[in-house]
Amino acid sequence: MQYHVISGASRGVGAALVEQLLTPTASVFGISRTTPDRLVDRARSQGLPLHWLPADLRDPSGADSLIDSIAATVGDRPPEIAALWVAAATLDPIGPVGTLDSAAVDAALRLNLAAAITLTQRFVAGFAGFGCPLRVVLLSSGASERVMPGLSVYSAAKAGLNAFARSAQDEAVRSGLGDVAIYSISPGLVDTGMQETLRTRGTDRLPERDQYRSWRADGRLASPAAVAARLATLVNRDDLPAGRYLHIDDL
Ligand SMILES: NC(=O)c1ccc[n+]([C@@H]2O[C@H](COP(=O)([O-])OP(=O)(O)OC[C@H]3O[C@@H](n4cnc5c(N)ncnc54)[C@H](OP(=O)(O)O)[C@@H]3O)[C@@H](O)[C@H]2O)c1
Repeated sequence: MQYHVISGASRGVGAALVEQLLTPTASVFGISRTTPDRLVDRARSQGLPLHWLPADLRDPSGADSLIDSIAATVGDRPPEIAALWVAAATLDPIGPVGTLDSAAVDAALRLNLAAAITLTQRFVAGFAGFGCPLRVVLLSSGASERVMPGLSVYSAAKAGLNAFARSAQDEAVRSGLGDVAIYSISPGLVDTGMQETLRTRGTDRLPERDQYRSWRADGRLASPAAVAARLATLVNRDDLPAGRYLHIDDL
């Protein structure tokens, strides 16, 4: 049995990953604040092993018990592979530095960075003992490397994810954890609610808003399903430089 833990699984790329990865021989554990009835009902009617763990990841301390409860479901036979997919994120607070709400900055860093780190480190702790291959896929962004005006907090968190993946991969190798690969990867431009947020904010907060509108008008956004299908190939690949920031086109 494969084990897949997906944060931000209710919508967008995370939901598409659920649909891509869920099979009779792959248990999927979705984490988000809301439960997508459509996905859950379909899995139930088809007898597929989808489990939902509603959680607000702005409280990263909850990550330990989430991962522990998932690891506790592993029976006598170790997983064939265990993978953590971190898609949960927010763009807010959006706006120029000097105008941001401090509580919103704190909440964004907790969701976009601290929760990703705590989920990863607890996942490694909880699943390493099974001796199976471990994969961690942290969804980063082009914003981690280039300036996107109005998105400084989001950019900082995504750059932090890249740095974390680099160090965590090095440490996993040094401590002889076995077949562990931790990726930080940009999914490219994807047609999700996150892109809609970019198209609908005022230019006082997001000066390049019209560029985001033209991306969609010009057909540059990929479907979540297409992106999930490419990401899912990471499960079976060992030819990519784990730890290094990658783009979906590298797959
Ligand atoms: N879309 C793009 O073009 C694009 C580009 C570059 C990078 N990315 C990255 O790709 C990933 C997926 O993006 P997306 O476009 O699919 O995003 P999305 O459609 O906005 O979905 C975000 C997901 O995160 C969950 N989430 C938000 N706040 C949460 C919280 N406090 N606790 C738990 N879950 C929470 C949401 O579920 P609930 O609301 O139910 O909690 C939802 O499932 C993100 O990391 C994003 O930064 C996306």
